Amino acid sequence: MNEVLKRFEEIGIIPVVVLDDAKDAVPLGKALVNGGLPAAEVTFRTAAAKESIAAMRKECPELLVGAGTVLTPAMVDDAIEAGAQFIVSPGFDKEVTEYCIEKGIPVTPGCATPADVQACYRLGLNVVKFFPAEPYGGLKTIKAIAAPYNMMKFMPTGGISEKNMEDYLKDDVILCIGGSWMVKKDMITNGEFDKIEELCRKAATKRDEVRKNG
Ligand code: 3PG
Repeated sequence: MNEVLKRFEEIGIIPVVVLDDAKDAVPLGKALVNGGLPAAEVTFRTAAAKESIAAMRKECPELLVGAGTVLTPAMVDDAIEAGAQFIVSPGFDKEVTEYCIEKGIPVTPGCATPADVQACYRLGLNVVKFFPAEPYGGLKTIKAIAAPYNMMKFMPTGGISEKNMEDYLKDDVILCIGGSWMVKKDMITNGEFDKIEELCRKAATKRDEVRKNG
């Protein structure tokens, strides 16, 4: 497994962030690090994504920074130029996935069916995102899909929160989970970085408890 995926596994919970203004990127990055979840999937849903990734990479050396909602090869180029360490897409796109592989940047494409998972396996991946996790049946569906693909690990996102994270984290088929519950957009806009740090700490504590108790 590559270094980025190893860090996904260690961190266990990857915050998914939407930044409207790149000035919030560094305070947010520091809150994530201080709260014990030193990772950010910065979604390319806003014009501030590229600059935010670059700022985080420059000012938050402990933070693992990637780009989410990457839909085209041009967005892969933008993400790499900004210094992104990984790429996430909401759905499986062969061209985007192959382009990431060609560029040597780790990619976790969104999968929701066995066909998606198999296509990723054929491209040499062993970790995929499962999206949108809760509406598509959560852990039960992931385990059913994973049964024939026992070489694959999953990163579910979509509808995960501190209320349901435990079951996901306990299961061997899960590499890590992702979500926005600790970094809601309004918290960022309102500059509530202490609150974000606290929510990250709470999630990290729960993660540690699950790991300790098995
Ligand atoms: C997303 O791409 O928005 C992520 O999957 C996060 O989903 P969430 O907001 O339900 O945590």
